[in-house]
Amino acid sequence: MKYFNSDYYTYKDSKLYCEDVPVLKIAEEFGTPAYIYSKKYFIDRYKEIDEALKGINHKVFFACKSNFNLSVIKTFVDLGSGVDVNSEGELFRALKAGAKPEKIIMSGVGKTANEIKLALENDLLMIKAESEEEIILINEIAGSLNKTARVAIRVNPDVDAKTHPYISTGLAENKFGVDPETALRLFRMQKDLKNIIFTGIDMHLGSQITKVEPFIEASERLAEIFLQLKSEGINLKHIDVGGGIGIHYNNEKTFLIKEYADSLISVFKKLNCEVFLEPGRLFTANSGILAVQVLYTKKTSRKNFIITDGAMNDLLRPSIYGAYHHVQPLVITDGKPDIKADVVGPVCESGDFLAKNITISGCKRNDYIAVMSAGAYGMVMSSNYNMRRRPPEILVDGNNYKLIRSRETFEHIVYDEENLL
Ligand code: LLP
Repeated sequence: MKYFNSDYYTYKDSKLYCEDVPVLKIAEEFGTPAYIYSKKYFIDRYKEIDEALKGINHKVFFACKSNFNLSVIKTFVDLGSGVDVNSEGELFRALKAGAKPEKIIMSGVGKTANEIKLALENDLLMIKAESEEEIILINEIAGSLNKTARVAIRVNPDVDAKTHPYISTGLAENKFGVDPETALRLFRMQKDLKNIIFTGIDMHLGSQITKVEPFIEASERLAEIFLQLKSEGINLKHIDVGGGIGIHYNNEKTFLIKEYADSLISVFKKLNCEVFLEPGRLFTANSGILAVQVLYTKKTSRKNFIITDGAMNDLLRPSIYGAYHHVQPLVITDGKPDIKADVVGPVCESGDFLAKNITISGCKRNDYIAVMSAGAYGMVMSSNYNMRRRPPEILVDGNNYKLIRSRETFEHIVYDEENLL
């Protein structure tokens, strides 16, 4: 079988370590399934992109939808990052984690009036509007609050990001943003919108994009709009290129961060604008694993199954996107033959799998497995299906580690239903 090693997860004496801590130790202490994150990974990725963009005026906003644990958001806030929030719930978390409102931006194709009101009351840096009706509503709400709203318009550049259709967002057929023509028309409404000041243009092409060309093509389209508006006397301050940078789940060919940053610099340097970016997955995916334990193994007439205590409710990506997450044992035992197997969970669905048809060195009851690259869109997309408790989250920092969210209790899940019987 293949072992996935990195600067953050590596085998020493046959044991998988996260930084300087054996993952087995954490799994035994907190039980499984459990999410484990490397703090160094968060820090290194943030610094890497911030450094690569130093040739241009820029701001980085961590897209906390990828991992909204308060300690994770706080790690980025402490590094100087801003936060991109997609709902009032994420705003609540970003503020609790210590993010300053002037470093928070709000996204969302369907913001409620209350979300707009909260963004304005909290004086967030800007709101990214995605339709004419939303712009009119922002103008009205800002007026009623006696505020001037800072607004960017999200443009759908109609560029194919060549990613999974569910996570592609920059095509004309997608629900996001407005087309470039409409964006120009809306920006030109500036003079009639007394309570809005347009500050920027925004895009987000999709997620897990592994080629740099779509970013360049779309950035050039945004630059054209920026210059067109400038020639008409509408002076914007920033261009937000969104998130979407692809990472390695398997052996994907991806671009280097330096290559991405240099492309942005070459497109935007001449514009005299500030560049915003909103990475999520890049910052979190390979920081995390989901540690699970083997409950049973079985061989049917067709297949081998490894049934673990982790399931689709804990990590949904394999089930809904057919996403590949590498699986490997927490402890390598010599002499075990490789087998081909599906790694599945206890949930009552055939779609409940963590890995399909993978090669792993023979597992037996009670062995532990790491499901790799699970730090982004893992815990945040988990659910209580089959009345399963969400897993705990543990943050590793060098040879220390700490619990940053406990395993849920049944009482958490039942909430107030008992009082409402
Ligand atoms: N900005 C906006 C407006 C977004 O919608 C997203 C992600 C990001 C930034 C961050 O994108 P990233 O850098 O993480 O690619 N659940 C899916 C991914 C959905 C992404 C949604 N939007 C998955 O598990 O692959």
